[in-house]
Amino acid sequence: MSSEVISREVKRRRTFAIISHPDAGKSTMTEALALHARMISEAGAVHGKGGRRSTVSDWMEMEKARGISVSSTALQFSYSSPDTDTDVPNVINLVDTPGHSDFSEDTYRVLTAVDAAVMLIDAAKGLEPQTLKLFQVCRHRGIPVITVINKWDRPGRTPLELIDEISERIGLIPTPLYVPVGIAGDYRGLLDRRTGDYIHFERTAGGAKIAPEEFLTADQAAEREGDVWSAACEESELLAELGQDHDQEMFLAGQTSPMIFTSAMLNFGVRQLLDALVEFAPPPRGRESIDGVERSVTDPFSAVVFKVQAGMDSSHRDRLAYMRIVSGEFERGMVVTHAQTGKPFATKYAQAVFGRDRSTVDTAFPGDVVGLVNAMALAPGDTLYIDPKVQYPPIPSFAPEHFSTLRVTTADKYKQFRKAVDQMDAEGVVQVLRNDVRGDASPVLAAVGPMQFEVVTARMKAEFNVDTIIEPLGYSLARRTDEQSAPELNRQRGVEVFTRSDGAILALFSDKWRLQYIEKEHSDLLLEPLVAAA
Ligand code: G4P
Repeated sequence: MSSEVISREVKRRRTFAIISHPDAGKSTMTEALALHARMISEAGAVHGKGGRRSTVSDWMEMEKARGISVSSTALQFSYSSPDTDTDVPNVINLVDTPGHSDFSEDTYRVLTAVDAAVMLIDAAKGLEPQTLKLFQVCRHRGIPVITVINKWDRPGRTPLELIDEISERIGLIPTPLYVPVGIAGDYRGLLDRRTGDYIHFERTAGGAKIAPEEFLTADQAAEREGDVWSAACEESELLAELGQDHDQEMFLAGQTSPMIFTSAMLNFGVRQLLDALVEFAPPPRGRESIDGVERSVTDPFSAVVFKVQAGMDSSHRDRLAYMRIVSGEFERGMVVTHAQTGKPFATKYAQAVFGRDRSTVDTAFPGDVVGLVNAMALAPGDTLYIDPKVQYPPIPSFAPEHFSTLRVTTADKYKQFRKAVDQMDAEGVVQVLRNDVRGDASPVLAAVGPMQFEVVTARMKAEFNVDTIIEPLGYSLARRTDEQSAPELNRQRGVEVFTRSDGAILALFSDKWRLQYIEKEHSDLLLEPLVAAA
């Protein structure tokens, strides 16, 4: 495959994730995007109406019961902007992130696989805790963010209030590409700030279809909408005076964020979001290896595993490793090398997964996400490559804040229990800690959010038919230490030292006062903070 072909494929790709607080409309927006890309002909397929959540990722009863998305999937579609005259469509990869904060470690891994993020905000609620946390992850990773104010069809705040809140609370300056015509709850259309024209939307029955757009000049808009149009013009002028116009360099540097107002439910503003992604979000780029060498997108194939998932669906009891392609072309069946073990890995079963739908992937390019079936040896952060060798930096694991012991209730299931613990450890469902005193029969599980423990016990039962008991341990924080410091730490009250499966030695503390005391009394001991959770 020539590097021109790869360059061309890379140029038309955009890989992004939607980050939002639960209920801001992520599923509805995903569906609206699929509708605009003509992947589906009517809204209502992905997100069931009337509270019937149907397909996105309901791989476990827990998900359904709680109405949250635990697992992540990737959706690929091609999209041609009606505004461009090229006949080569863009290829959009939308990587789904779990909504609940207890799975922020998972979300972090997903965000290592994207080049941009769409921060979806409920117009009435503004910034919510989970949006803020996810935004911090984007900032940490240098991911440019497009801001979407959703549910504009419902009463909410004013655009300027929302803009102020974002600027003040997270230091990101919104640069609206459009100003809504009509207050929240009376969404008529958008003033295109770059052309000064008016895009008027028409409702469709139940918001099931793409909303037809009517284009009007400023004069026509003034005549039709009167004061409502004038108010939008004033807002736009004010923003221009404040310097809040789009600036590509500042956007890529994470200082500003193009902003769009939408109603995912009515499909208003969704095309504008897609167009903004195509126009402004960066295409896939190369990556630096652990040796500091840059692998460019046109170099031979390489990819990073960012997510491993098992038991997604009762009809597919298998384990999928999702990789994001970094360089070169992927062809199904090619034999690649697993950098961590040096072993060859045959890619015969490569799939794209969205909800329950799976399809075989024959070729893929940088930016694309491919699921490898039954990839037992692969773990998040692993690299796959074709010579020359490359290994990308590992994905850091978060500082756990919840610690529990896990025990099997029936002795004859011990073998399955161990296998299950090892598998969930490798997938990154929880971190597994061990020490000689406790032995292997009741490992200590460490998690960012307690719901991760529920995933473990539910999967133990559903996939391995093992009943387990989880019991909280009296520790609340962890520090990285070393072999020299371990014996002294183990002698301290309220402290216990463990080895994590990646080899890291962690000391757990009952509380921060205990930690502070030991830091003061034993300043010679190594106690390093771990990467804080989002
Ligand atoms: P999430 O994935 O971020 O959790 O949000 P989701 O799409 O499930 O949307 C949460 C609720 O908000 C849903 O209502 C959905 O219909 C509604 N919603 C999403 N986008 C918009 C919008 O642009 N405008 C309005 N008015 N509502 C929106 P629900 O009652 O919980 O579910 P359902 O009965 O609609 O299925």
